Amino acid sequence: MAVLEELDQLRDEALAALEKATTAEALEEVRIRYLGKKGKLKAAQKSLFAQASAEEKKELGKRFNPLQEELTAALEARKAELGTPDKQQEKPQPDITRPGRKPLFGSVHPLTQTIREVCEIFRSMGFDVAEGPEVEDEFHSFDALNIPPGHLARDPRDNFVTDDGHFFRSQTSTVQIRVMEHQPPPVRCVVPGRVYRPDTVDATHHFMFHQIEGLVVEEGITFRDLKFVLDEFLHAYYAGREFEWRLRPHFFPFTECSAEVDVRMKGSTKWLEMLGCGMVDPNVFDAVGIDSERYTGFAFGMGVERLTALKLDLPVGAGERGIRHFFENDLRFLRQF
Ligand code: DAH
Repeated sequence: MAVLEELDQLRDEALAALEKATTAEALEEVRIRYLGKKGKLKAAQKSLFAQASAEEKKELGKRFNPLQEELTAALEARKAELGTPDKQQEKPQPDITRPGRKPLFGSVHPLTQTIREVCEIFRSMGFDVAEGPEVEDEFHSFDALNIPPGHLARDPRDNFVTDDGHFFRSQTSTVQIRVMEHQPPPVRCVVPGRVYRPDTVDATHHFMFHQIEGLVVEEGITFRDLKFVLDEFLHAYYAGREFEWRLRPHFFPFTECSAEVDVRMKGSTKWLEMLGCGMVDPNVFDAVGIDSERYTGFAFGMGVERLTALKLDLPVGAGERGIRHFFENDLRFLRQF
């Protein structure tokens, strides 16, 4: 019976192929080739039945199912030997012995470093650290600071003004008022913060920069105390550097008398302006209800960018980008600190 022989041949062929497959992938191919829906077994079933005589059909019918079972069992046995196909194994596995990639750690911005350091120096001299709003009303921005109506500093062209008549503070001196409104003397505080001025941005100007304000109000405070505190501060902040500093008479509406402080590093011919200061004007005390007969005080306000530039020997203020180095988040600049 030719059809039955053909079926036996197919059986031997399939078993040999199963035996020959040495990987899970090859085994899967054999399964598809012989036992799949379009495999040889199905094809043989059709074609052999079509050719077979009535008697052969009977015999074929008896044989097909057991053959299918036999081959399936053989396949399963072989599968157990080789394991199931594992796509993962084809991919390159990570080399867990390689050193890891270093995370990119941030660092504290140089201006923040300065603010922290300055506040720490003043803390050690018994000062508190206060903060105040960046957007202020007219009273705290000007009136209470003895800046009368019509004063140049009030010019809307020199201030960022909100639609409802508030001002982005152009100096941290506004917070002096806030502090004195909330705290009776004695007052000793420093106030770090951002200030805003509608200046055209260039090497030495920016529409936003930082100041640290200082205020002391006590009985018996004199200009000598101011000078002493500034000297202590400058020598602590520029510790290890040789420099001179000087007081230069100046005018500020909220102090009387007033001065500016310049610093000159050893070896340099240039005096750099660092801060403004003076004795609190009695009009300012009157505005916040502090008895100006009993109390005196001094105040100062310094530029954080300048303090930082001079300390770190940064060429800000010179060169094309100047002060903008501090605000542009260029990692080539920031990574140096
Ligand atoms: N606010 C001044 C400025 O921005 C600096 C200043 C001067 C602050 C004298 C003071 C002071 O507290 O007493 O230029």
